[in-house]
Amino acid sequence: MTTITLVQGDITAQSVDAVVNAANSSLLGGSGVDGAIHRRGGPAILEECRKLRASSYGRGLPTGQAVATTAGALDARWVIHTVGPVYEADGGDPSLLASCHRESLRVADELGARTVAFPAISTGVYGWPMEDAARIAVTTVRATETAVEEVRFVLFDERAYAAFAAQVG
Ligand code: APR
Repeated sequence: MTTITLVQGDITAQSVDAVVNAANSSLLGGSGVDGAIHRRGGPAILEECRKLRASSYGRGLPTGQAVATTAGALDARWVIHTVGPVYEADGGDPSLLASCHRESLRVADELGARTVAFPAISTGVYGWPMEDAARIAVTTVRATETAVEEVRFVLFDERAYAAFAAQVG
């Protein structure tokens, strides 16, 4: 049974088995969560991302998919990178954002991760409306068969926290 918990704070400060990164398809870093994870996690993460680009993800990580690397200096064992959909481009189609959560849990299960921290994927640079993203995220986690015991949504501000709290009830 997976417990969903909510925390208002910085995802890079969480002590969990895996931290989910709101990455872009290049896997080579960015701003927001991506920038914070690479900044605090250190170069070991980017090094593994580069290896992924040189091997199985030559054309980048497709939207909705997930892949794991070391967590470097974070208080976690892995970072699970996933690429959220861009609201304008994907016209609000929930399936790709749902896939980010389902695929991240599938990768977590492959790793044997039991506690996983998620940010509010796509709700920053990618422009997804917070309430809709919270609904898709919580609904998908609840509908996904996984051995993960805790899914911790780490929300950066009160607005995000309130949106997720409204979904979790
Ligand atoms: N901890 C938790 N949440 C955070 C943090 C943090 N340290 N920093 C930002 N956030 C929140 C934002 O407030 C937003 O609600 O994470 C959510 C996702 O925002 P982004 O990080 O902008 O991610 P996203 O909207 O998925 O856009 C991905 O942004 O950083 C680039 O390389 C990334 O191109 C990719 C795009």
